[in-house]
Amino acid sequence: MSLKTRQLTENFGIEIIGLDLSTTPDEDVLREIQDLFLEYQVLYFGQQKLSAASHVQFGQSFGKLQIHIMNQYHESAHPELYRLSNIGEHEKPNGIFPDQGTHVWHTDASWEKYTGQATIIFCELATSKGGDTHFSDMYGAYARLSKEWKKKLKDKRAAHSLHFSRTRRHAHEPMTNEQRDSTPTVDHPIFRTHPDTHKKSVFLGDHAEHIVGLPYATGREWIDELNQLIVHDDLTYKHKWKKGDFLAWDNRCLMHKVESYDAAKEGRTIRRCTIIDPRRPN
Ligand SMILES: [Fe+2]
Repeated sequence: MSLKTRQLTENFGIEIIGLDLSTTPDEDVLREIQDLFLEYQVLYFGQQKLSAASHVQFGQSFGKLQIHIMNQYHESAHPELYRLSNIGEHEKPNGIFPDQGTHVWHTDASWEKYTGQATIIFCELATSKGGDTHFSDMYGAYARLSKEWKKKLKDKRAAHSLHFSRTRRHAHEPMTNEQRDSTPTVDHPIFRTHPDTHKKSVFLGDHAEHIVGLPYATGREWIDELNQLIVHDDLTYKHKWKKGDFLAWDNRCLMHKVESYDAAKEGRTIRRCTIIDPRRPN
């Protein structure tokens, strides 16, 4: 290993120190980054000076980038980037939190047939208070789940739907018919095996609507209970954003959520890309 690092928590997350990503690193470094990504699940690159084009290019070193169906959030010149900001007219905070679904534990693109691999965020503008992103370890969640739950959920699949989660959390700005039609409900195993590390994790979160083969209400009850149960305070990492921060995480074995902040007083802008795993969860 040639990269200088510092662990973020005892369990997961690592900071890579002193790496300049304004130009794409060579293949050996990229390989090292991928190894650290699989081992630590959250990679923090510190503050970077990173154009939108370099962000996309770095994302492509992880795989194929998602073009998100919610096209109102696309960064205009780079639709692979999804931009969330409360900066409105005259460059002032507009009081509107841009995507309220992000306040709840979830995993990116679990509503897609091919789900999120990495999500990679660049922070253009940070708040002084609030807006932190929390990550929760789903390998640990699986390891700590009771025998009873493991038995009840063995071979069970959850149906994931963006329309379900979006309507529930952000109903004042509903999906268009076209957006809804192009995101049919998909199901994935609740216990998945990571395709690279071969470790088991729990795969649920806020896009999970019901459980295939169970009455709808029972599935809802179980998912609501599990989404609380699988988060352990000692298996989480909270990231406090600074302007220029660049951070990547693995959606196949982590959930994440964003704290609220005073959107009328402070500006917060992030842009992100999500890499889609070409292998279906199993
Ligand atoms: Fe997210």
